[in-house]
Amino acid sequence: MRGNFCNLTILLLAAASVLPAAAAADAVDIAIYWGQNASEGTLGDTCGTGLYAYVNLAFLSTFGAGRAPVLDLSGHCDAPSGTCAALASDIASCQSAGVKVLLSMGGGLDDAGAPGYNLSSPSDAQRVAAYLWDNFLGGTGESRPLGDAVLDGIDFDMEAPSRYYDDLARNLTWLYKGAATATPTGVEKKNKAYLLTAAPQCPFPDASLGGALGMGLFDHVWVQFYNNPPCQFAADASALQSAWQQWTAALPSATVFLGLPASLDAAGSGFVDADTLVSRVLPLVEGAPNYGGVMLWSRSYDKDSGFSVKLQANLQNRNTGNGTSSYRKRIYTIVGVVAGTVLLLLLLTTCFLCHKKYRSSSPPEEGSTTPPKTEQFQQKLIPQHPQRYTYSDIQRMTKTFAHKLGQGSHGDVYRGSLRDARQITVKVLKNCKGSDKDFVNEVARIGGISHANVAPLLGFCLQGPTRALIYEYMPNGSLESYALNNNEEDSVEENYSLWLYWEKLFDIAVGVAQGLEYLHEGIGDNDVHISVKPRNILLDQELCPKISDVGVANLCLLKESKTSHDVRERDGYDAPESVSRKFGAVSSKSDVYSYGVMVLEMVRAKRHVKVGADTTSKYFAQWLYEHLDQFCNSISDINGDTRDLVRKMIIVGLWCVQAAPMSRPSMSRVIEMLESSSTDLELPRRIS
Ligand SMILES: *[C@@H]1O[C@H](CO)[C@@H](O)[C@H](O)[C@H]1NC(C)=O
Ligand SMILES: *[C@@H]1O[C@H](CO)[C@@H](O)[C@H](O)[C@H]1NC(C)=O
Ligand SMILES: *[C@@H]1O[C@H](CO)[C@@H](O)[C@H](O)[C@H]1NC(C)=O
Ligand SMILES: *[C@@H]1O[C@H](CO)[C@@H](O)[C@H](O)[C@H]1NC(C)=O
Repeated sequence: MRGNFCNLTILLLAAASVLPAAAAADAVDIAIYWGQNASEGTLGDTCGTGLYAYVNLAFLSTFGAGRAPVLDLSGHCDAPSGTCAALASDIASCQSAGVKVLLSMGGGLDDAGAPGYNLSSPSDAQRVAAYLWDNFLGGTGESRPLGDAVLDGIDFDMEAPSRYYDDLARNLTWLYKGAATATPTGVEKKNKAYLLTAAPQCPFPDASLGGALGMGLFDHVWVQFYNNPPCQFAADASALQSAWQQWTAALPSATVFLGLPASLDAAGSGFVDADTLVSRVLPLVEGAPNYGGVMLWSRSYDKDSGFSVKLQANLQNRNTGNGTSSYRKRIYTIVGVVAGTVLLLLLLTTCFLCHKKYRSSSPPEEGSTTPPKTEQFQQKLIPQHPQRYTYSDIQRMTKTFAHKLGQGSHGDVYRGSLRDARQITVKVLKNCKGSDKDFVNEVARIGGISHANVAPLLGFCLQGPTRALIYEYMPNGSLESYALNNNEEDSVEENYSLWLYWEKLFDIAVGVAQGLEYLHEGIGDNDVHISVKPRNILLDQELCPKISDVGVANLCLLKESKTSHDVRERDGYDAPESVSRKFGAVSSKSDVYSYGVMVLEMVRAKRHVKVGADTTSKYFAQWLYEHLDQFCNSISDINGDTRDLVRKMIIVGLWCVQAAPMSRPSMSRVIEMLESSSTDLELPRRIS
């Protein structure tokens, strides 16, 4: 029975892994950078190879802060003396061959190690946007550096950080939209759709472009998986894979490209040869719904190495089984045979392995104190049951506590990995006073909690004085790391460091509400301690929120005097009654209060407004209550639907932070409110 189940699972897995390969297209869209080296050939020849879908002219290397913009295509022409205008005919031939030609802004640092670009204010960003529009896109500049060519868009490759890149993106988009609706003046330019693209570095989020990307305005994003050892491809592909998942999840409205060097010499590190790319790397990235293709640096290296020629050929081979025939029928036959063989082989191997494993009588390597093997086998299939580990397991999993992630109120948190390479966090508890039996009972209780928005407990350790809890590792950290830390700043702009955009913030608010509703009403146990605050809201690869630390306070305060709980410092997220009993009894409505503060803080972090000297959450809520319309209308460049989401978040937040627990809604009501239209929602009669 168990054997059959195993085989079936493997069969499905095998089928799932073979099918995408069979269905994959036989060519990949390649974006390339051109412009820095005369030996790379003309732009016309570059497009004429038929290898590329996008060509980025590199670079507009000087702009902003009062500088006269400089187009540097040093290998090919001299913009100041006007010779680059001759490129117009090449650009036209590229475009007529279906290749999009973009102007790339930025690039690396100059010889003196300084960037030749920088934006000094939002109005500076607007000036640069206007310059780009008039000189390269649909506008009517006097002396256009590329003659009468109308490029397909603008690429952000600013590696040097500066503020106001987000303003630049916003204003360009605004100009693009104006072009789409304006009465056409020129035949060429009418109703043309312009692109906005960017080339961030793979560590997520990008230090320089993160703020701009967070607005969701970009069409294509080529992420540089080179010169970045922490996330580029290596023998162990997990770093690349996890960065890739973060990028693709965070940019649902863009297509994401895998950026690579076109030869070993093209970058300090991160080169992947075409064979490895096709056999090992593309399979890791192609599954993303917004996978777009590959970006290469640069044409000069690609010309010498023949990288894209090889890549396109390998892809062709992959789908034809290295045949030369282009008859569909034959391709399908070959794919079918290959798939069938792989499937059969996989099946045989796994049957053999499963059989062997099931029969094996050697003790399991992890969780050696768990009950007999058959039960352990079942536990693997039902992940809700936390696995028990020994202290030495924990030591091995965390490489002897080598990587400390942080310090929580109940103990230190370390990063580690399981034998099956799953990434985990280990929370080593301190101050746990209860008996071992209480601990095991509590763990079982917490382990039974299973909801998409609650971080699941994978395992625990109880050996001697050591008590630890094991959770899945969440690569996107907590909401707190998204700048929900209340730092006061003299500005009325949208928060630069807060990477998430409004729709995503709203989804997070809904997810947390659903998790809380389940914890309040779905588990029939209102004794489980929850602490709602940004630090405890973790974000998984898809930025789906998971409430963490659920029940941990129960574990550590067991048998401990209640007084330590009472003198706890109030941190703004605590409801009045959780600090002093004179405001009433602690209940699920106390979590509702914390939730309300959190939602309002999310709003404040995304769009910072100066409301006066008092920076407390309470004062901010009062201010929002009095200035709701003003606040919502002040958010630039969002459409009516998004404004509706912001409004709902605020109204819900205001209801939740009512001083009297009775006046606060239940979490089910909160979800109803978030799902309705903001016009159906009324503000509470008063605040506080
Ligand atoms: C330009 O390309 C040639 C030939 O590939 C190479 O030798 C040279 O170093 C390149 N120059 C620059 C500045 O990249
Ligand atoms: C960028 O602009 C700001 C404001 O004008 C200025 O303080 C800063 O020094 C500039 N940085 C560079 C690298 O030019
Ligand atoms: C873009 O800049 C122009 C001035 O060049 C300004 O009038 C317009 O309001 C700006 N739009 C946005 C959305 O920032
Ligand atoms: C097919 O594979 C063989 C050997 O691996 C190779 O020599 C041949 O060039 C390949 N054919 C094509 C069309 O790539």
